[in-house]
This record gives sequence, C-alpha cells and structure tokens, in this order.
Amino acid sequence: MLMKPRKYSPKSINDLDMTHWKEYNDVITDSLWLFPKRDDSGFHSPEYWGNFIPQIVTQAVLRFTKKGETVLDGFLGLGTTLIECRQLGRNGVGVELVPWVAEKAKWFIAHESNNGGIKTLVIQGDSRLPKTKLEVEKALQECGTSKAQLLILHPPYHDIIKFSDLEADLSNAKTEEDFYTQFEQVLENYDDVLEEGRYLVLVIGDKYAKGEWIPLGFRTMERVLRHGYTLKSICVKDIKENRGKRNKISLWRYRALRGGYYIFKHEYIMFFKKDAKKKDRRKPTNTSKSKEC
Ligand SMILES: C[S@@+](CC[C@H](N)C(=O)[O-])C[C@H]1O[C@@H](n2cnc3c(N)ncnc32)[C@H](O)[C@@H]1O
Repeated sequence: MLMKPRKYSPKSINDLDMTHWKEYNDVITDSLWLFPKRDDSGFHSPEYWGNFIPQIVTQAVLRFTKKGETVLDGFLGLGTTLIECRQLGRNGVGVELVPWVAEKAKWFIAHESNNGGIKTLVIQGDSRLPKTKLEVEKALQECGTSKAQLLILHPPYHDIIKFSDLEADLSNAKTEEDFYTQFEQVLENYDDVLEEGRYLVLVIGDKYAKGEWIPLGFRTMERVLRHGYTLKSICVKDIKENRGKRNKISLWRYRALRGGYYIFKHEYIMFFKKDAKKKDRRKPTNTSKSKEC
C-alpha cells in the first residue's frame, strides 16, 4: 500500500512541510554562506559594530523552530535576533550586559511590527550569572514556555572589539583562557533552559595576536562539545569589510603579503544539538591551571 507522505513528523522542530521541500529555495542547506548584502527589511541598526546580519537568525529560526516557539539570545547586542523573531512570529528573550545597548535594543525592537502578537523581552544582565538565568526563566514563562527552543550565542570574539569597560564583558577577559572560562559559565547557565533535542547556534570568528592566527572559533567550539552537545554543522560565512577596514584595504594587503598570512574574510556559524540521549552531557572543562600529579 502506498503511504501518504506525512505533512509534519511528530518530532518536527520547524514548520517546513516536507511534502513541498523543493519549494524552500530560500532555506540554506549548504555550509558556505555568501550573502551579497545585509538584509535591510527589518528595523535594524547596521551601525552597531560587531552585530551580525539578520539572515543568520532567519536561517536558524526557519530550520530549528516553529511559529509561536521561543528563541533565547545570550548576547543580544542591538537586538537583531528579537527583531527577526518579530518578523518570523517567534517569541524572543535576549540578554545584554551593557545598559545603554540593552535600552537601545528595546527601542529598535519596539519599532519592528509585531503582526503575530508574539513576546519579545530584553533583560539587561550578565549572562554568566544564575540570577540572570532566573530572570530568563521568568521571561520564558511570560512567553508561555519553561524552556527555549533555540539558543543563539554570539559572544565577543574575545578582545577584537571592546564593547564596554565593564568587567563582566567577555571582551574584557584578561586572557584567552579566561575568555573560554567565562564563555563556559554562560553555556552552563543556559544549559538548563534549552529544551532537550533542540539547537544551540554559536556565531564566532578567529583572531590574530602577536603575529599568530588564534583559532578562537574552534577552541570555543571545543568547550561546547565538552558540555555534551552534538556538533551538527560548521558553516562558514563571508565577512564584508566594515567602513574602517574598507579604507585600509591596500594597507591590509601589504601587511598580509609581508607578514605571510591571509586577511580574515570569514566567520563561523556552528550548529549543535542538545542530545538527551548522550550519556556524558554536561561535563564542564577543568580550567584550573594546577596540574594533577
Ligand atoms: C558580538 S556582540 C552581539 C551582537 C548581536 N548579535 C547583534 O546583532 O547586535 C556581543 C554582545 O555581548 C555583550 N556581552 C558581553 N559580555 C556579556 C555578558 N557577560 N552578558 C551578556 N552580554 C554580554 C556585548 O555588550 C555585546 O553587545
């Protein structure tokens, strides 16, 4: 007997109707992400140095959430994630450390239309702290859920951009090791609030220091893996020059040719699944410097 294709599998984590899968040309399934330009359809401010392009959120939300579900962003910045949530009919909770940034994010988000009547809540706080987690849990309840269905983490790429003078700001981590430790605190803090079987998206790039390419992205990825998440994909996205760099292209080329290196043109979007069946989930790294005998 010929089976009728099922519209949604019971375990579906998105609204894609697989009986019409050929129609989803706008949903990316390849790992190389080249965007000709920033999507400017939402009420975003492209001026925040260090924000990501809205397309990253759109792609993740379409693949890994359904309408009416809830997205948590632990490093909200100027609110790109929540603005996209409004456009796509998902609830959103975002945490941002720097008070003026959180306030400005609220302003931008409030100006985005909200036809789906969904909730978008901004918390000004430190994503490493349990008290922020409590606020997140309250916000999730306001969204009608106890867990988020998607977790987006777009931390500072260590000290490449200094976001504030605040000690709790990950861009002020004194050493690279300290950055990973603080990132792990955030990971640990939000681990509980992400629903089992759902996705964590890490957006991160590498850095140069003292004439050396530091694989910050892969080292951060390693920390997520040690917490028991399953790596599903590493996507590579092109970086367009910001205005500052655009004026210095020749200088960068000269330096690269002389210095024997290549200029950064990419960052990573890493997709992890919180796998309930994985036995050794949540084994934090021993970051202490002391050696075992
Ligand atoms: C790379 S930006 C994120 C930009 C964001 N995706 C956007 O599109 O606007 C990182 C953000 O994390 C914030 N941040 C740094 N340390 C934090 C912490 N401990 N808790 C919460 N936010 C933090 C910074 O202030 C900065 O706005």
